[in-house]
Amino acid sequence: NHKKTLEGKTVLITAGPTYEAIDPVRFIGNHSSGKMGFSLAEEASKRGAKVILISGPTSQVMGDKNVDVHKVTSAKEMLQKVFEFYDTIDIGIASAAVADYAPKEIAKEKIKKNDDSLTIELIKNPDILKTMGEKKTHQFLVGFALETQNEEENAKGKLEKKNLDMIVLNSLRDEGAGFKNDTNKIKIFTQTEKKEFELKSKDDVAKDILNFVESQILK
Ligand code: PMT
Repeated sequence: NHKKTLEGKTVLITAGPTYEAIDPVRFIGNHSSGKMGFSLAEEASKRGAKVILISGPTSQVMGDKNVDVHKVTSAKEMLQKVFEFYDTIDIGIASAAVADYAPKEIAKEKIKKNDDSLTIELIKNPDILKTMGEKKTHQFLVGFALETQNEEENAKGKLEKKNLDMIVLNSLRDEGAGFKNDTNKIKIFTQTEKKEFELKSKDDVAKDILNFVESQILK
């Protein structure tokens, strides 16, 4: 009994972690499971949107055949995939936990454990969402902020710096929020509004986020 409130809209969602290769067997990654992004994609699809999901490595399975799923590994691949679609989308939601740095060089062979210490030089990755913000024409952009301190200040800073319309804050200080859990606890900020939500399932959090997006784009 879903109302098709996003009919005619194209929604792009990034999800999951990125893996940045060190050598053929190792990578730098993070704890993102992809759950938050997959819940958002399924909910947007139920509401009638055309959904493009660009996901890093995860074991999540997309149950909705209408969602167009693209698997990527690294931040650079995710950036490239996002910009294959960017001009065509109405709403972009960045729930991926993108690695901020990647090894400067990927070793061609497995690195041997010869020395007592090993130094890997890291280079800053592209900021996918910031690039989306810079190239924004008509898209409504939603970012996430995963914080451990000065949460609200940092989230509002990202809203400004990345030229977003809305940001979803989740804090690792809140039990049951953030990575891996089936639940999350969020606060939403726009330039002028702030709304705080209870701890709930990621499926229900996805509903809250999309309700808020709809309230903004239908203004
Ligand atoms: O996948 P789950 O296990 O369900 O966990 C969900 C989640 C905790 C990963 C998710 O709710 C979340 O908070 N995602 C954003 C994580 C993050 O990297 O936050 P950040 O504050 O570092 O980044 C700010 C924003 O910029 C995010 O929208 C991020 O997608 C984007 N970003 C960051 C760096 C980068 N190089 N490119 C980006 O696009």
